[in-house]
Amino acid sequence: MPELQRDLRGRALRDLRVSVTDRCNLRCTYCMPREVFGPDYAFLERDELLTFEEIARLVRVMVPLGVEKVRLTGGEPLLRRDLPDLVAMLAGIDGVTDLALTTNAVLLPRHAAALAAAGLHRVTVSLDALDDAMHRAVADTDVPVAAVLAGIDAAVAAGLGAVKVNAVLQRGVNDGEVEALAAFGRDRGVTVRFIEFMDVGTTNRWRRDRVVPAAEVIDRIGARWPVEPVEPTRPGEVAERWRYVDGAGEVGVIASVTRPFCGTCTRARLSAVGELFTCLFAASGTDLRGPLRDGADDAALAAAVGGVWARRDDRASELRAEDGLSGPRVEMSYIGG
Ligand code: GTP
Ligand code: 5AD
Ligand code: SF4
Ligand code: SF4
Repeated sequence: MPELQRDLRGRALRDLRVSVTDRCNLRCTYCMPREVFGPDYAFLERDELLTFEEIARLVRVMVPLGVEKVRLTGGEPLLRRDLPDLVAMLAGIDGVTDLALTTNAVLLPRHAAALAAAGLHRVTVSLDALDDAMHRAVADTDVPVAAVLAGIDAAVAAGLGAVKVNAVLQRGVNDGEVEALAAFGRDRGVTVRFIEFMDVGTTNRWRRDRVVPAAEVIDRIGARWPVEPVEPTRPGEVAERWRYVDGAGEVGVIASVTRPFCGTCTRARLSAVGELFTCLFAASGTDLRGPLRDGADDAALAAAVGGVWARRDDRASELRAEDGLSGPRVEMSYIGG
């Protein structure tokens, strides 16, 4: 096997996160604040989006460069019509060993069975509160939390393996939900991961004093149900994993602010319009749709991706100052979580 392309910090390309739309049916305050993403917001037009064939072609080109893990994100990926067709195309690519979807689960009851049949391996559901009023406030929606829970049940029932739940914590907002979410995970056999609130994009009013440190979360959970650390299954894992000593499964924390993990970051992101981003906090990406539509062959596309990766020097979370990052940054709903 040929040597993989390394970036300027010696990191290989392993994971690709593909955003399939910048739209979402929720308006989480930390991600798509309604005053910014309102009725007049200019979302991407359909003909700007990569087609499923174009996405599959780029993934196929990136597998020999190292990509083995592919995650579909958005916005809310289930808003993209016929998503199971894309899943089937990606599931059929040799070398894609892990194919996952990040979703808010609201549309999962409708689509879980088709996604599973198309070959999706697993889903990760974003859920920040179990309390219905809190959920509605954080997601700025009338959709009840019961709809999200029904989505999680649908995923489990469809056989979509190890369902995970991601919860973004904000101090003074939903940090009171830690124990309830942990208890939910224990009861349902779902791994809940608590994510530190990040200054992704420039519109979510991030402040450091809103971040609930992962260490505090684990202390609180451990005080109720003793936990012990679990070794990472693969290098570059984002979540730190903990096992409940009583055998009730695992819980995780994603300490992107207090313990950044840039040193082992093997992730690239493909925006819905086909730009390649080498960091979640980047201001811009490299256009791959242009060359793709101009008839570039696979070798030329691979050379473009390899060249971008070879020049990669990102470590934004390690460079974050006390009062956050500065400068322009793309929004999370655009680049994909
Ligand atoms: P698993 O393979 O299921 O463990 O998924 P994952 O570790 O890739 O986690 P997931 O995709 O669910 O990401 C969880 C969250 O971690 C994201 O929604 C982001 O909030 C955060 N995150 C993921 N990747 C990065 C990254 O590269 N940098 C930073 N700073 N945060 C990230
Ligand atoms: N900080 C941390 N996590 C975030 N997410 C979205 N915005 C932020 C943020 N500012 C998470 C969502 C979802 C995933 C796509 O990213 O909750 O789980
Ligand atoms: Fe939508 Fe997910 Fe962003 Fe919430 S966090 S607004 S569900 S994309
Ligand atoms: Fe990777 Fe950038 Fe996140 Fe660091 S901040 S882990 S380099 S995506």
